[in-house]
Parts: sequence; C-alpha cells; structure tokens
Amino acid sequence: MLVLGVGSFAFSVARALKENGATAATYLTRDYAHYPPSLAGPVFSREAYPSPVPLIQARGVELVVPQSIDWAQASWADDLLKTGVGILSPTGEAMRIERERDFARKLCAEFKIPFPRAHVARNRLEAGQILSRHPAPYVIKNPLCSPTSPVHTILCETIEDTRSWLRHVNYAEGVFLQEFAGRAEAGHIALVSGGEIYSLVTNQEYKRAFDGNMGIVAGAPLGGLVERDPDDKYGLARALIHPLRPWLRAVNYHGPIQATAVRRRGKWCVIEYNIRIGVTSGAMILRLLENPLETLLATTRNRKLSPRFVSGRNFGCSITLAGYGYPYVQIKGPPLPVDVSAPFDKKDCDVWWNEVARDNGAQLMATGHRIADVIGFGAKVDDAIAKAYANIRRIRCLGSYFRTDIGQSLWPPGRE
Ligand SMILES: Nc1ncnc2c1ncn2[C@@H]1O[C@H](COP(=O)(O)OP(=O)(O)O)[C@@H](O)[C@H]1O
Ligand SMILES: [Mg+2]
Repeated sequence: MLVLGVGSFAFSVARALKENGATAATYLTRDYAHYPPSLAGPVFSREAYPSPVPLIQARGVELVVPQSIDWAQASWADDLLKTGVGILSPTGEAMRIERERDFARKLCAEFKIPFPRAHVARNRLEAGQILSRHPAPYVIKNPLCSPTSPVHTILCETIEDTRSWLRHVNYAEGVFLQEFAGRAEAGHIALVSGGEIYSLVTNQEYKRAFDGNMGIVAGAPLGGLVERDPDDKYGLARALIHPLRPWLRAVNYHGPIQATAVRRRGKWCVIEYNIRIGVTSGAMILRLLENPLETLLATTRNRKLSPRFVSGRNFGCSITLAGYGYPYVQIKGPPLPVDVSAPFDKKDCDVWWNEVARDNGAQLMATGHRIADVIGFGAKVDDAIAKAYANIRRIRCLGSYFRTDIGQSLWPPGRE
C-alpha cells in the first residue's frame, strides 16, 4: 500500500496497515514532516518522483490512502486513476460532496437533510450585501476545499464579528458564508461500499486551541474522541448519511464518508461532509478494527464489507502536543529538542510523531507546530482518556502544550 501524505497521518496509516500485513510506503505530498512516515516504511519525495504512478507500478501497490482530496488536482491524477489501483476515496462526481461546499448544500436540500443557511460571495461587495439582506452570524469558509485555500474556516459568533472579518479576508476564490449553528458539534464516519453504508464511529474533534474550548479554531484539532458505533447509537448516520443513498448509488460512491454536524433546536444539521478517514480519526479507526487492511481494500473494490472490531476497545482518545507558536502558524521558533522521560505504554497507546526529525546526534527535534498525536484506547471513555494523558505527559519540549480537558465538554454528542 502507499500513503499519499506526511506527518502523523502517514506514519499512523502506514504503521497500522503494516502491522495488519501490508507492505507500506509513503509518497510525501507536502514539504514538511517527512521523518515520521520513514519510521513505518520507505518514503518517496516529489523531487525524486514527480509522480507516484511509476512507484505504484514498480511496487505493485494495490491500495492508495490519500491524506487530503488535493491528489485529484495533481497533474498525475488521471494516470493514477488509469492504473486501476484501489484508492481509498470516492472519485469523479462523488468528490464534489467535499470539494464544493455549495454542492453539499444543494444535495442536503434535495434529500431534506438539515444544513445551515448558506451563501456564496465572489467579493467583498457581495459579502456585504448578503450580510445586509440576511443578517446573521456566519462562519466564513473557502467555497472550494483544499489544504492550500487562501481562506481557512473563521468562526464568527455575532453579526459584528462577521462584519469585521469580511473586511479582512482574501476573496481570491470567493467565500462561502454559512450561518453559525452553535457549538454542540459531533461527527460520524462510515464506509460506503457496494451501495451500502457501514457505520464505524461517532466522533468529536476539539478544534479550538485552548482548554475550555477557548481561542481560535486551529488548522487541525487539538484532540479527538472516537466511539465504536456500528449501530449508529446517536442517530447521526440515519439523519445525515442514509438519506443520501440514492445519490451515493447514482455516482457509484465507494470510500469513506464523514458527516460533521451541529445540534440546533433539537436537530442535527450538517456543516460539512468529508470523504476521508480523517487526520485525527483515521489513526484511531484503523486501531479499532481487527481487519483494517481487508476492509479498506474491499471498500476500494466496491465490495461487501465485514469490518470486525477489536473486542474491549470501544473508545479512542487522541491528544495533540502542539509546539512553539501554535495555533498562530506564522510564528516560527528554532528547532527545539523533544525529550521523552519514560517509555510509552506498549498496550492501548500509540504515539504518532508529526513535525519532528532527528538531528545529527540523533536527538529528536521539533521542526514545526504539531509535534505528536498521542492516542489511548479503552473499553470506557475514561480509560482511553487516562491512557492518552499518562503518555503525553512523558514528552517535554520547550513552549509546547496540549489541552487538558479532552472529553470534559462536547461529549456525549449533543453536549456543549
Ligand atoms: N455553520 C457552523 N456553525 C457552527 N460551527 C461551525 C459551522 N461551520 C463550521 N463550524 C466549526 O468550524 C469547524 C471547521 O469547519 P468545517 O466546515 O468542518 O471546515 P474545515 O474542516 O474544512 O475547516 C467545524 O468543525 C466546527 O467546529
Ligand atoms: Mg471539518
């Protein structure tokens, strides 16, 4: 198999699938966080390999797991599709549900799935007119999703917040304005294959930078919980994914689907769909499954799935160790040593290094803003949380921090 990605995502996917029997490698799609995936198998750079396709052919790769949807924009995307290799992602028309926010809005309207009121503005003038005609607090987003968009989601909680930010954002690709729906968020991740929907987990991401859900919504979450949930106990899949079934079948959708939702006036409404296993949840989902490799391969082949869960492992808790300057990513510090005071637990714990490298003396150094994701697992949510905290506390790096309250708010789903 081949991961298209970097950092803790590539490290965790490659290692988890390797331990499940795969021969794993990574094609490095970004210019940072190259060291961690090298701990799980060979890594190949864009400089040495302008396209991953020759690698896929030479290595006989059967499964490709992309970190983000931008692979479909690459110059080699068509060649990749032509190889017939299994890609863990829907392709073609089906990708629009994540890529184009207004397309997702229209789909929800068609299938009667609640979605906050939303508008697209091409420039500052149009954005101002929308705010006057439909005064409300808005979340400002990129209309076309890509890791390199000029706009990253900005949450405004009042009309005045919205007005201030609309004067300041970059309109190169326009903006998608979605009414702020409150803070009671949760997510659900399923696999779609052979026209069926297989629920895997209900999840929570702690997106705000600081304890108490304070500070800005950071580029990637500071923590996350997943609960094994094949029966959809909170009803998120029934409300937000199952109604899409006619469309999923019409576009021959096969791959992961993730709905992120906010509970407003007693009802879940979708704020975004993603078509990936997720940078935070992916590492946990693969460890909750006994047969992740077989399950992912069958998904890429659009076959019937039989995911099996590891018994007694019902929850995962992921905590990110953020480094100097995070979440204000323009701020950069020097490379700083990362020290580990005691060995990490071997059982029910994973530490996925992210923006770190080894210097010449083999000292582990932080090379960016996100140092590691530390994950604990357990039968109960408190066990998973305790495990993650016991291990993240063994890492020291100057100026680093982590949230100390993962699991204390926003769980169970629907709570603020
Ligand atoms: N309409 C909304 N109402 C309330 N919170 C929102 C809304 N849209 C986004 N958010 C918050 O911002 C986060 C990021 O938004 P999202 O649409 O998932 O974009 P992305 O993941 O591409 O940054 C969400 O997880 C949620 O916490
Ligand atoms: Mg999101």
